[in-house]
Amino acid sequence: MKWIINNLKMNLTLPEIIEYEKEISKIASKNKIVVCPSLPFLAYFKDTNYHLGSQNVSELNEGSLTGEVSAKQLKSLNVEYVIVGHSERREKLLETNGQVSNKIKLVLENNMTPIICVGEKKEEISNRNEIIKQELIEVLSDVKDVSNIIIAYEPIWAIGTGNIPDISELKETIKFIKNFFLTNYNQEVKVIYGGSVDSNNVMNLNQISELDGYLLGGTSLHIEKFKEIIKKIEV
Ligand code: PGA
Repeated sequence: MKWIINNLKMNLTLPEIIEYEKEISKIASKNKIVVCPSLPFLAYFKDTNYHLGSQNVSELNEGSLTGEVSAKQLKSLNVEYVIVGHSERREKLLETNGQVSNKIKLVLENNMTPIICVGEKKEEISNRNEIIKQELIEVLSDVKDVSNIIIAYEPIWAIGTGNIPDISELKETIKFIKNFFLTNYNQEVKVIYGGSVDSNNVMNLNQISELDGYLLGGTSLHIEKFKEIIKKIEV
């Protein structure tokens, strides 16, 4: 069984979301489908045949913080997963590892699963493992129990570009991340891949037996393309 996380990002309006929910609720799959719409639309998802995820959460607990949404509020909407540390937030909104670390703590305290994004920039490729390790150390600085986390390896240069890593290199990176957790926490952790996954390359990626699933951006917006992915990895 794989985890398929649909990160809808800042797309779709309410009528489109209602249609999307209708379509996605019809998809039966052995895999675990997690839909992450924009925050105002979470309540429109009824959680049939799929699970609910948030694209973000506040780094602070609750109270006076205009415009933010707390982990406790997400939990009350039946959210089970929260994407944290996505590179778009790190790059465009200057989110730091310290903020990501606070978010992870609050997500876990509220019994949800953080999907923690890590990955290198193009110019960091030769130093990839060191970059990933440092990110993991910093965002997990306050976390002792990693039994309920998912790591999304997302090379920044692969997101939205149509490029994916070389399969054998990707396999090594996934193994590196899994080993990091075995060595430091004595724990097996789920690792998924994100960055330009589509119905054409998914079978290639799916050769990597160590991979636990995919984080889909652009492809998740098109129900027909999404169905193709599900069909291909179902067997
Ligand atoms: P993409 O986005 O599939 O459009 O490359 C992936 C992501 O940002 O998680």
